[in-house]
Amino acid sequence: MMKTAISLLCSLLIWFCCMQSLIISCKGGRINRQLSVNPGFKVKAVNLGGWLVTEGWIKPSLFDGIPNKDLLDGTQIQLKSVTIGKYVCAENGGGIILVANRTSASGWETFKLWRINESTFNFRVFSNQFAGVQQDSGSASSTAVVAEANSPGASETFQLVRKADDTSRVRIQASNGLFLQAKTQDLVTADYAGDGGWGDDNPSVFVMTIITTLHGEYQVTNGYGPEKAPQVMKEHWSTYIVEDDFRFISENGINAVRIPVGWWIAGDPTPPNPFVGGSLQALDNAFSWAQKYDIQVIIDLHAAPGSQNGFEHSATRDGSLQWGKLMILYNRLYANNPKLYAVELINEPQASGVSLETLKNYYQLGYNAVRKYSSSAYVIMSNRLGNADARELFPLASGLQLTVIDVHYYNLFSNIFDNLSVQQNIDFINNNRSSDMSYVTTSDGPLTFVGEWVAEWQVSGATKEDFQNFANAQLQVYGRASFGWAYWTLKNVNNHWSLQWMIQNGYISLTT
Ligand SMILES: *[C@@H]1O[C@H](CO)[C@@H](O)[C@H](O)[C@H]1NC(C)=O
Ligand SMILES: *[C@@H]1O[C@H](CO)[C@@H](O)[C@H](O)[C@H]1NC(C)=O
Ligand SMILES: *[C@@H]1O[C@H](CO)[C@@H](O)[C@H](O)[C@H]1NC(C)=O
Ligand SMILES: *[C@@H]1O[C@H](CO)[C@@H](O)[C@H](O)[C@H]1NC(C)=O
Repeated sequence: MMKTAISLLCSLLIWFCCMQSLIISCKGGRINRQLSVNPGFKVKAVNLGGWLVTEGWIKPSLFDGIPNKDLLDGTQIQLKSVTIGKYVCAENGGGIILVANRTSASGWETFKLWRINESTFNFRVFSNQFAGVQQDSGSASSTAVVAEANSPGASETFQLVRKADDTSRVRIQASNGLFLQAKTQDLVTADYAGDGGWGDDNPSVFVMTIITTLHGEYQVTNGYGPEKAPQVMKEHWSTYIVEDDFRFISENGINAVRIPVGWWIAGDPTPPNPFVGGSLQALDNAFSWAQKYDIQVIIDLHAAPGSQNGFEHSATRDGSLQWGKLMILYNRLYANNPKLYAVELINEPQASGVSLETLKNYYQLGYNAVRKYSSSAYVIMSNRLGNADARELFPLASGLQLTVIDVHYYNLFSNIFDNLSVQQNIDFINNNRSSDMSYVTTSDGPLTFVGEWVAEWQVSGATKEDFQNFANAQLQVYGRASFGWAYWTLKNVNNHWSLQWMIQNGYISLTT
């Protein structure tokens, strides 16, 4: 029994990357716990989403103080020349010149921003090079803008100047002090001097359209910058989830929390830029509240270096997915803590970017690392998103002790739900999800965990009773998962995504 507040011990974290190898060791020790599994216990958990890994849609106000907050890392923009009336394009998707001759815009005409500060950016093109001013100064077209650099330097760094009363009109200043202009349809150059106003006759004016944005941890921390981000994030971590939330959870039939964490927590208190330190202290607090209110803790590595799925919730910088290319050993845990119930080695790797072989190797190494310190913590392995068999991890997991397969079930994120009625959504739970559950829940395989679900759908105008029926159908079916389930998430500005709101407003009851 731990009598005092938990002091987290962490062993060490080793990331083996292709390019670099970085070793961070933390204070800590090794204490083995004896196996103390209660076979009758099932997890009825809630995710603490949007807390230690930022997701802007969960708490948009976290981004409110960022200047130029619509131009964060990974924002995708398109640029139309006002004089030519056509879109700027990285010809061939990258590797050669930029042109301004496209009447419609898609991939090659889209640029992903890397933010240096509120007004300074790199522009990443379709094939992932960066737009920049041509280096060969001997050439006649030495101010031509090309997309050749694989990493951004001074020539790839631009000031974005927005018109004060119409921020979609922009001028782009290169590091040579001159502005980009669409000189002809076939040539974009960085050689326009002076002002020239904001009119349609100025070849250095472009109309910028924002296509998509990201609102993850990378965006919020880099958006605020190194001065403000530590203060903003510490304020968020210490106020968003507090002790009273654990009291609420414990009084409302929930026995566990799944806590998404990002890889940078291992570098606390000085993680690599732009991430900021302090989330480890918040996790510390969660463990001590868990102890006080008898709540089990599932730690979930939600964001891996380079991103395992390209989504903002994995802290991607610009939507690209690089984790599958890295070989990573995850070896961090809170081994001596009686409330550490399970470790989820990674959340939602994407089948299109992470091979089954890579993932199995990683899971085996992660499992070994956990077992070195704990014989009783469950080890949770998330199934891959996308085109993957739900039993593909069985051969690995079945040979190991206390392993769990995590599946996420939403009646969302696929056009098969686009036009379903209330009853059709409920039928989908009772038929399709039920058979999905049966397929993955076997008597001799790993345990199963519906680690994310929500009583939200695409039905409009549904009544409270409809939501109750939908939630109850899911509780019935996911209640058959042999490890348990976890609602996504505890708090959210979107009411149905907030289990707290759903309980307080009588949509979901777990105590009757
Ligand atoms: C942004 O960064 C550029 C390049 O380092 C610098 O010249 C500029 O002063 C910075 N602007 C702000 C607002 O910090
Ligand atoms: C755009 O300009 C480039 C460079 O001259 C040319 O190769 C390409 O065919 C042009 N594309 C269109 C759609 O006009
Ligand atoms: C849903 O209904 C809309 C309007 O009737 C239709 O345009 C759309 O194709 C439907 N979507 C699917 C996936 O069936
Ligand atoms: C759901 O299950 C029903 C009945 O087995 C089947 O006809 C239907 O195609 C399934 N729907 C989807 C989207 O897989």
